[in-house]
Amino acid sequence: MCECAQSVEQGVIVEVGRWKGASMALMAEASPSSHVHSIDNNDKHNDLAQNLSEGLSNYTIIDGDSQEVAKTWTQEIDMLFVDAFHYKDFVLMDLESWVPKVKVGGLILMHDYFTKRKSRLGRHWKDGVRLGLRKFNSRYKNLEKIEVVRHMILLRKIRLIAQN
Ligand SMILES: C[S@@+](CC[C@H](N)C(=O)[O-])C[C@H]1O[C@@H](n2cnc3c(N)ncnc32)[C@H](O)[C@@H]1O
Repeated sequence: MCECAQSVEQGVIVEVGRWKGASMALMAEASPSSHVHSIDNNDKHNDLAQNLSEGLSNYTIIDGDSQEVAKTWTQEIDMLFVDAFHYKDFVLMDLESWVPKVKVGGLILMHDYFTKRKSRLGRHWKDGVRLGLRKFNSRYKNLEKIEVVRHMILLRKIRLIAQN
């Protein structure tokens, strides 16, 4: 995630799913010339997120539902980090909401992409990211896989299509 953010210069990074703000702070630190916009529909840990980001000014905490925020989003995105609700349909909705805002050539990083069948996590949670992404790919075919590293999959948006 840090290497991915590091590769973005003077860019717009959007995170869907902030929780306690660790990934937000790490990405903001890794790409000081970029701005990280971090969305979560739960503001419970915002103080902690601000503490973790002490000394950084290149981030914005956005409280709201991912799909609602996407409706009014106008900036072109250089890097999208998807790490919210991991059930297939929600993953698909996040991708359908946000990938259209990513520029062609932009990066999409997704957390909790599990490739092994056995896991202590529930099946829907474990398989959700993979299945949601598969469904998205079969509909739009505009993402190219770059690599899978430690439960993360990195993709690149390769073309514009009708709605994407
Ligand atoms: C796995 S945590 C994020 C962890 C964080 N990216 C990190 O690595 O530090 C998932 C977060 O997604 C948020 N979330 C789930 N569904 C959401 C939605 N529809 N809109 C916005 N945030 C959502 C949850 O509130 C939770 O804080």
